[in-house]
Amino acid sequence: MLPPSHAKNIRIEIQSDLKTERKVEALLAKMTLEEKIGQMTQVRHFDDIQDSDISSKYIGSVIHTEGPIPGHNAAEWQARFTELQEIALSTRLGIPLLFGVDAIHGQNTYPGATIFPHNIGMGAAGNADLVEKAAAITAKEAQATGFNWVFSPCVAIPYNEKWGRVYEAFSESTALTTKLTRASVIGHQGNLSNKGTVMATVKHFIGDGATEYGIEGGETTLTPEQVAERLLPPYEEAVRSGVGSVMTSFNILDGIPMHAHKALITGLLKNTLNFDGIVVSDWKGYSKYGENEIVNAGVDMIMAVDGDLDHFREVLFEGVKSEEVSMDRIDDAVRRILRQKFRLGLFEYPFPDSTLIECIGCDNHREVARQAVRESLVLLKNNASILPLDKKLKRIVVVGEHADSSGLQSGGWTINWQGTTENYLGASSIIDGIREAAYGEVVYDAGGVDLHPDADVAIICVGEKPYAEFFGDVGHEESDCQLTLTEEHKNYIEHYVAQGVPTVVVLLSGRPLVVTEELKKADAFIAAWLPGSEGKGIADVLFGDYNFTGKLPHSWPESESDYEHVYGPNFWQKSPTPLFPIGFGLEYQKS
Ligand code: BGC
Repeated sequence: MLPPSHAKNIRIEIQSDLKTERKVEALLAKMTLEEKIGQMTQVRHFDDIQDSDISSKYIGSVIHTEGPIPGHNAAEWQARFTELQEIALSTRLGIPLLFGVDAIHGQNTYPGATIFPHNIGMGAAGNADLVEKAAAITAKEAQATGFNWVFSPCVAIPYNEKWGRVYEAFSESTALTTKLTRASVIGHQGNLSNKGTVMATVKHFIGDGATEYGIEGGETTLTPEQVAERLLPPYEEAVRSGVGSVMTSFNILDGIPMHAHKALITGLLKNTLNFDGIVVSDWKGYSKYGENEIVNAGVDMIMAVDGDLDHFREVLFEGVKSEEVSMDRIDDAVRRILRQKFRLGLFEYPFPDSTLIECIGCDNHREVARQAVRESLVLLKNNASILPLDKKLKRIVVVGEHADSSGLQSGGWTINWQGTTENYLGASSIIDGIREAAYGEVVYDAGGVDLHPDADVAIICVGEKPYAEFFGDVGHEESDCQLTLTEEHKNYIEHYVAQGVPTVVVLLSGRPLVVTEELKKADAFIAAWLPGSEGKGIADVLFGDYNFTGKLPHSWPESESDYEHVYGPNFWQKSPTPLFPIGFGLEYQKS
């Protein structure tokens, strides 16, 4: 059953659908094969293309992700995309472009945007209203920087913490992920045609987080029943909520690369679930996974990047001529792309709205992100009720480089694809919040080596460095990630325990880490995930202005051997037993 507020929107959409379908058919009937293939093409706004390619190759979409930014400020970003849109509109049929961006925890490609906790933190908060609000803010800031499409949310169900993308997903619980997926899709899309909303993408269809040993793009060997029960529900819910696009995954399922898995893309997603939006490939999916085979499997739009553009156009053109790819398949793809362009209102309003610029990183947006930080924190230990801290403590030592770096606290997909280790525009760090809240002295010991035996407490911030995609896979040759803290970070804790100072550990990580020994040593221990730009939210809870409400969105491992197997503790449900079960989280005692 739909809540009444949403039922109204959906009824409107159904009424307007016939009108939309007529417009789609009328336009499709006028298109040449070249124009159709053009619509199926997504390019970057630099390097691979000349601006004139937009009109000469009838390009359908532009992507922005890692690489040169479109301008120095939002007005320049808008101007750049307006320029490209004008070129598209100058073509014979004047079909507007879709502009897509990896805005996965806020419009994280734009310095100065509001950055939310990564989805794992939103999973810990478990608050669907908050996810909906965060998605609506992300949509608005994405529109304010010139985009009408985001490649989010990731609705993976990660079963092995070795995977470098665990933090992009909400939880290892299918039910929680399904609930938050719905909220995210509705938040991003609103009624779609509104100028402050964007098309959302659920990704990566399907099995991305369930590969053996957590290898990005690896083999998923779940049975069809397990896929249906454990991985599919978020997609079903997304389709029910009207999601505009679905991105295919790098992994292999049933021995078939997911990009080429016709039974799942066309059979299950399009025919059984009735998904009528766009299936978009992932990065270079065309040349990597079988070229026209992926079009025949049901992929509608191709991320034709890194040299794929002309190759894709030529090979698909030949494929249609030789009847390897049917005209019906091409028409189905283009129909889906045009349908979303009409639904987004792009034919009436193809350009970004300059009045939205002032909302980027505004106080109201940051306040919601700060609330999300507070709600995402999970208290794992609180010995002798050391927390909440008294604001009147005389001397607080804050330890570790993660305490004073908004980049380190934000993880991958922040400013850059692989994140940043620096402070970034508009963000506050954890120590900023502590300094603001505490009345006494706050001393900073970045390297965890100073002597402060007289300190009332040491707040020790440790965790992972930013990473994205396979660079985050534990065990990958290009990754230095591990499932434990580094020796250096373990020593920070050891050093303050040895001085007899009460210790509060704040763990910044994109996944549960094996910290069994450190948990024993510390007096209090908080899983803070990757909070994003509002580091001050942590002090809000440390000093008791707010209580802890976050609950573990993953079962927490006891030892590294928990992840030696194909999957981790939650998958097997019995053995090995996690140190803390999913759903665990302490609170302050109410007095
Ligand atoms: C990632 C996607 C992302 C795409 C575009 C890929 O490498 O797997 O999640 O949306 O790049 O940047």
